[in-house]
Amino acid sequence: MRIAIGADHAGVLLKQHLVDGILRGHDVTDVGANSTEPVDYPDIARAVVKRIRRGEAERGILICGTGIGMAMAAGKFPGIRAATCTDSFSAEMSRRHNDANVLCLGARVLGTGLAEHIVGAWLEALFEGGRHATRVGKLEDRTSGEIR
Ligand code: RB5
Repeated sequence: MRIAIGADHAGVLLKQHLVDGILRGHDVTDVGANSTEPVDYPDIARAVVKRIRRGEAERGILICGTGIGMAMAAGKFPGIRAATCTDSFSAEMSRRHNDANVLCLGARVLGTGLAEHIVGAWLEALFEGGRHATRVGKLEDRTSGEIR
């Protein structure tokens, strides 16, 4: 699978661990960061989103301290369904029901073993479509932002 991955300074070590481990065998594009020098997570999220929106990657993985800022930053772009997951059940369901195309992880929340398990569950699970496709379609409904 073509996967774009990025992390801020808080997530750079976990990113490297995943790239060297569970993501081996995938076609991985690492957009950085490559050091623990502080960087702004929205800039990294944007770089991963760009790869997906251009069709250069099918999925994205974003890592920051909590996984929260990355999900906020990525999720505002059309076509991006970003899920912060702290357990593998949620990761699996984010694929099966939400068709999440970006997984966000918190390096300050997760141990490396759990992070690998979450990534594995997320990569394996398939979107179920059907009624979930209807609901996911509504996520892209721009008019829903007009609720008063
Ligand atoms: C950086 O200190 C931290 O704020 C960032 O990695 C992330 O957790 C934000 O959501």
